[in-house]
Amino acid sequence: MRGVTNYILRKGAVERTGTDAVVVGVLSSDKAPTIAPGGEGVADAYGRKLKPLLSMLGFTGKLGQTATVPTAGTLKAPVLVLVGLGAEVTPVAVRRAAGASARAVENAASVALALPADDAAMVRAVVEGFALGSYAFDTYKTKPSEGGPGEVVVLSDQAKREELTTALEEAQVVAAAVAATRDWVNTPPGDLTPAVFADAVAGRGTPARRSRSGKTAKTTKAPRGASGAAAVTVTVMDEDELAEAGCGGILGVGRGSDSPPRMVRLSYDPKGATRHLALVGKGITYDSGGLSIKPGPSMTTMKMDMAGAAAVVNATFAIAELGLPVRVTTFAPMAENMISGSATRPGDVLTMYRGKTVEVLNTDAEGRLVLADALGHAVEEQPDLVVDVATLTGACVVALGDRVAGLFGDEAVVGSITKVAERAGEALWPMPIPEEMGEKVRGNSKIADLAQHNTERWGGASYAAAFLREFVDEVPWAHIDIAGPAYNEKAPYGHVTTGGTGVVVPTLVELARDLADGADVTGRG
Ligand code: BES
Ligand code: MN
Ligand code: ZN
Repeated sequence: MRGVTNYILRKGAVERTGTDAVVVGVLSSDKAPTIAPGGEGVADAYGRKLKPLLSMLGFTGKLGQTATVPTAGTLKAPVLVLVGLGAEVTPVAVRRAAGASARAVENAASVALALPADDAAMVRAVVEGFALGSYAFDTYKTKPSEGGPGEVVVLSDQAKREELTTALEEAQVVAAAVAATRDWVNTPPGDLTPAVFADAVAGRGTPARRSRSGKTAKTTKAPRGASGAAAVTVTVMDEDELAEAGCGGILGVGRGSDSPPRMVRLSYDPKGATRHLALVGKGITYDSGGLSIKPGPSMTTMKMDMAGAAAVVNATFAIAELGLPVRVTTFAPMAENMISGSATRPGDVLTMYRGKTVEVLNTDAEGRLVLADALGHAVEEQPDLVVDVATLTGACVVALGDRVAGLFGDEAVVGSITKVAERAGEALWPMPIPEEMGEKVRGNSKIADLAQHNTERWGGASYAAAFLREFVDEVPWAHIDIAGPAYNEKAPYGHVTTGGTGVVVPTLVELARDLADGADVTGRG
């Protein structure tokens, strides 16, 4: 984890800014690359020397490309960092470029960002991008990293405008929520069991009622972004309370583990709220597959199977910290999917919360089982909209790759969230739930109400979504499958670092903004 970074928005000439480094954008074009808006002062200071310099560096302005240049007096700052924006200035490009530039200035104590920042959307992109690109998880390193710049100056001609100052503040709240999500996802699974995870969430909010069991010895350090939390009430259900409530899905998944399951409920209910959003996130702290065990190589990243829970929890705290006038009720079912003599078997039947019976046919399709109980709780709250987030299916990764989330559910809701995600700078793609999937879910078990798993492998992401839909009644609903983008196994790109990504947190906060503004997100008024 890095130290605190202070973000300052101000007007100023980039060539006379005395930070350790200055960052300017470069636009690619068919002819020569050009310095992007915000960096004009650098173009002027270098004059005719700029073109040959870019050419000698092989700098084309391709999105995310970076070069570090000693300025030798041409600018007041000793180091100039060039970052490619691609062909066009958009918030998405600026977010990614700012993220890439953060990795080029890791050892600078102060940095000035002279990127396009003349409106609120651009300022958000600059700050979110830079903050997230400089994220590092070094809790488990014996020698932690230096800590990135302590001061980041965002240069803008419009620095005096209130919307831009607000954007600077709000972007830091969203970035902190994303970073807190990454921290939880990156934490090794033995150190983030359901009880530890639940206690960590409870430790961030106001406890309504603590878990009765004193079985939770360990607690984790409070992660970043931990304020604003006082407005959020947290309730933890332990295994006994889950049994009393009849949460057969969560208990069935958790029974093979020595670490018992939990369900966390968060409530943010501000004065003046007219809309009610319910969030549900899959919190499998480790997914071995259970008796339908995963092959070894598929298991190594399965600490990330709680990314949905981490995202909805941190989005809820961020919405509260921003003080958005929208009511949010969040459920995070937490269990560890393990193997033992008491593990659920393929062939067992579970009775879910609110009574439906489910024949388990593959214990590795555990996410839908814990979500069914949590969705049941969510719809009982009678929200205007319920959105669940889950690292649910490998099939979704096959369909969309590892950078795009699948978006399923009611047509109007899917349409609204597609636009919201675009504004938040995240890639969510609409996916269908074909009619026959619902028929298979309801018809394929010979002994129970529903078949948990489709023995035919095609359309696995849609089958899972169709299964979830059985538990949402008539409440407007969307399901976001983040199995691909929740965890980046490869090198960093843009603002996305290696490991947990915190995907969907910005979209959920943006969705809450829409609801608070009175937008018709559900098509039902
Ligand atoms: N947690 C996995 C899904 C997953 C796969 C997340 C890859 C991230 C990366 C989920 O619980 C799972 O195992 N799904 C099975 C479902 C199948 C048995 C129907 C899968 O996708 O193979
Ligand atoms: Mn699984
Ligand atoms: Zn899983």
